[in-house]
Amino acid sequence: MSNPPRLGFGIIGVGMIANYHCLAIREAKGAHLVGVAARTAESVKVFAEKNAVNFSTTDVEALVNRSDIDVVCITTPSGSHLEPALAAIRAGKHVIIEKPIEINLERADALLAAADKAGVKVAAIFQSRFGQGARTVKRAIDEGRLGRLVLTSAYVKWHRTAQYYTGWKGSLKIDGGGALMNQGIHAVDLLQWFVGLPAEVSGYVSRCVHTGIEAEDTASAALRFASGALGTIEASTALWPGWSRRIEICGEKGSICLEDDRIVKWEFLETKPEDDLIRNAPLDEKMRSGSGAPNQISHYGHLLQIQDMIDAIQEKRPLAIDGRAGRNAVALIRAIYDSAARKCPVSL
Ligand SMILES: NC(=O)c1ccc[n+]([C@@H]2O[C@H](COP(=O)([O-])OP(=O)(O)OC[C@H]3O[C@@H](n4cnc5c(N)ncnc54)[C@H](O)[C@@H]3O)[C@@H](O)[C@H]2O)c1
Repeated sequence: MSNPPRLGFGIIGVGMIANYHCLAIREAKGAHLVGVAARTAESVKVFAEKNAVNFSTTDVEALVNRSDIDVVCITTPSGSHLEPALAAIRAGKHVIIEKPIEINLERADALLAAADKAGVKVAAIFQSRFGQGARTVKRAIDEGRLGRLVLTSAYVKWHRTAQYYTGWKGSLKIDGGGALMNQGIHAVDLLQWFVGLPAEVSGYVSRCVHTGIEAEDTASAALRFASGALGTIEASTALWPGWSRRIEICGEKGSICLEDDRIVKWEFLETKPEDDLIRNAPLDEKMRSGSGAPNQISHYGHLLQIQDMIDAIQEKRPLAIDGRAGRNAVALIRAIYDSAARKCPVSL
C-alpha cells in the first residue's frame, strides 16, 4: 500500500518554542514544513533562513491560505493564540496550539467554537502527557490499582532569572498569569488528566521575588474533589535552584510519585511482577521539564504530539489531546486565580 501524501505544515510565531516545532515537524513521519509567519519581517526572515524554510511572511492570511498547508502550529505568546488560530481555522486548517490554549475561557471557547464550525482538529500542546512515566501512572490509576484516591498533588518549584521576565512574560494581558499559567500548567494538566478536575479550589498567589511583574511568581491552592479526595498545587519561579516537577497520587491501596517523567515511588498493597522494573526505570532525558530554564526541554514530546496530529488526520481518528482536553488546565488555573482574588473557595 502506498504512503498517504505528506501533510504541509505552517508555523505562526518564530520565537523560542517555534524552534522545537520546526525540529519536530522535520522528524515526524508524513510531514513537511512549508512556511512560517510572524509579526516582524526581520525575525521571520532570520528564522526561515536558519531553518531552510522556503516561504516566510508577515501576513498571517498569506500563510494560512496556501493550498499546500494542512496544519498550522500556533507558537505566538499565550494571549495571542486566538487571532492567528482563528485565521487558520477559517482557512480550513487543523491547528496545533501551544500551552495554554488561551489565557482565559472566553478566548479558549471562541477558538473551540470556530473549530467545531469549520470541522477542523485542534491539538493542545501538553507534551508531558506523552512520556512513558506519565502514561504508566495514568494506566495504574485508571485500572484502580490505588483504590480510592486520598491526596493528589502537584509541585512545580522552579527557577527563572530576572532577565527571563522581559517582554510579555509575567504580564496579565498576554501571559495571562505567571508561575501557574505559564510554568505550572504542565503539572496542572497532568494532575487533572490523572484524577479529573476538582470540585472546588482555594487559591493564593504572591510575588515573592520577581516584584516587577504583574502576575504571580508563586501560587498555592488547596483542592477538594467530588470523590472526597483532597490535594494541593504549588508553583513558583522565584526560588533557587529549582527542582524537578513532582506529582504525588496517593490512594488507599497504593501511592505513586512522578518526578519529571520518572516514577520515583511506585508502591502498592497488591503487587505485580512488573512493579520492580517500573520503579527502577531511569528518567528518559528527552522528557525532562524546564525546572531551571525554559530551554532545558527537548523537542521529543513535541515530536510525539505532532506525530499524533498527523496520524489522527490520516487515520480519521480523534487526537490524544484535543482543544477541549487542553481547556481543562486553563479552567482550573482561572478558578485558582479567581479564588485568590475573591479570597474565598471557588467551584468548578
Ligand atoms: N510546551 C512547552 O513546554 C512550552 C515552552 C515554552 C513556551 N511555550 C509556549 O509557546 C508560546 C510562545 O512562547 P515562546 O517562549 O516561544 O515566546 P517568544 O516570545 O520567544 O516567541 C513568540 C513569537 O511570536 C511572535 N508574535 C507575537 N505576537 C504575534 C502575533 N500577534 N502574530 C504573529 N506572531 C506574533 C513574536 O514575534 C515571536 O516570534 C507561549 O504560548 C508559551 O506558553 C510552551
